[in-house]
This record gives sequence, C-alpha cells and structure tokens, in this order.
Amino acid sequence: MRKPYVIVNCASSIDGKIALVGKKPLKLSNEEDMARVHKLRNECDAVLVGIETVLADDPKLTVKEKYVGKPKQPIRIILDSNFRVPKNAEVMKPTAKTIIVTTCKEFKEGHIEVIKCGNEKVDLKKLMEILYEKGIKKLLVEGGSTVIWNFLKEKLVDEMFVFYAPIIIGGNAPSIAGGEGAKKGEEIIKFKIKNMERVGDGLLLHLIPQYEQ
Ligand SMILES: NC(=O)c1ccc[n+]([C@@H]2O[C@H](COP(=O)([O-])OP(=O)(O)OC[C@H]3O[C@@H](n4cnc5c(N)ncnc54)[C@H](OP(=O)(O)O)[C@@H]3O)[C@@H](O)[C@H]2O)c1
Repeated sequence: MRKPYVIVNCASSIDGKIALVGKKPLKLSNEEDMARVHKLRNECDAVLVGIETVLADDPKLTVKEKYVGKPKQPIRIILDSNFRVPKNAEVMKPTAKTIIVTTCKEFKEGHIEVIKCGNEKVDLKKLMEILYEKGIKKLLVEGGSTVIWNFLKEKLVDEMFVFYAPIIIGGNAPSIAGGEGAKKGEEIIKFKIKNMERVGDGLLLHLIPQYEQ
C-alpha cells in the first residue's frame, strides 16, 4: 500500500490525558516543546486532526515564524464525515491550504478542498492512498484521542512522539488514544522506545509501533 510516512505527535499529562475533563483545551507543551512541534510541522507536507479537535480547540495548525524562520505551511487535513466544521474556524482561514475529508460531499473553493472518502467514517487506508497521490509524503497526525487510536489500530503510524507535562488531570478527560480501545490482549499496541529526553520541565518519548503481522 502506498501511503505517506505517518508521525503522531501529542502532548499529555503524566496520567495520559491530552485535555481537561469535558474536552476543554489545556496547553500542555512548554516553550521548548512548542519549538519542536513547529519544526516538525514545518518538515511535514500535511498536518491532520479530527473534527472534535477543531470544535474543542479551534487550532490554526500553522507553523509560526518565531520557531522556524521561514515557515513552509503544511496542508491542513480535517477528518469530518458530516462536514460540521464551522465556517469561521481557524482552519478555514486562508493562512494555508485545507482539505476537509467527509463521507457526504465534495467540492473545491479557493484554498479549501472537500473530498469524500468512506461511508460512515473516513476510510483511513483509502485516504492514505489519496493523500500519497496528491504528493503528501510525510503526514503529521496531531490528534485527538479517537484519531490517534484509529491510526494506530489500522497500523498506519510509523513513529510517535509524546510530550509529558509533569501534571495529573484525572477523571474521564480524553487520553492519548481513545476510540474503542483494546478489548483483548492481542489488540494492545506495542512500542519500542527509540529515545527519551528531558525537554524543559517535561519528558519527551519517541516511540516506534511494533505491529504484529
Ligand atoms: N494535547 C494534545 O496534543 C491534543 C492534540 C489534539 C487534540 N487534543 C484534544 O483531543 C480532544 C478531541 O479528541 P476526540 O477523540 O474527542 O476527537 P478527535 O480525535 O479530534 O476527532 C474525532 C472525530 O473525527 C471524525 N472522524 C472521521 N473519520 C474518522 C476516523 N476514521 N477515525 C477517527 N475519527 C474520525 C469523527 O467525527 P465525525 O463522525 O463527525 O466525522 C470523530 O468523532 C480535544 O479535547 C482536544 O483538546 C489534544
């Protein structure tokens, strides 16, 4: 299967939560980690998130000049089966190109391209082929919880970075990987730790998924 090289990046509390209870956004990365994330985005052809992240955080998903000098804005990709993205969302602004992936409609208007891929939810394997054909060879998946789980479950992730802030959130806040989760041992996703380093007051883990064949 022809697919982009896929990197997952997220920031977490030490109890594995990536937002506050009720999906309320929380800045978990410190300044050093922000610089790393912006450099990583700048090296990728596209950055992908799920619609719930757009609704919860309204992220720009752009590269800031202060971190990289001359930014090369990656294409923003939103998984949004029912085209719920608000017209005034940051990702709809012409700061970069945006591809909205739905299961219901398709059109192109200025910097926005809406494509159809899948029936109820976006078919990730099919999407990987479409993105590869569009010239996207390196894809950064930035969440949220459901999207990360599904990319891992479909064995599409090549490497993963998790920045741990030294805090605990607790409760039923979204975790690094949500979705359906593993119901039996065989469904657990295993990793090799490639590197771990202190980044300011936090800890960065660089992980390589070890998929069973
Ligand atoms: N700390 C961090 O690094 C970080 C980064 C990003 C997000 N977050 C947090 O993550 C939370 C959101 O996570 P979430 O799990 O609620 O939502 P999400 O992963 O952002 O989005 C999930 C939604 O994407 C759509 N989707 C369509 N096809 C999909 C597919 N094949 N696989 C997965 N999703 C698909 C679905 O909505 P439709 O059915 O409507 O298409 C699905 O409900 C927010 O609280 C946000 O703050 C944290």
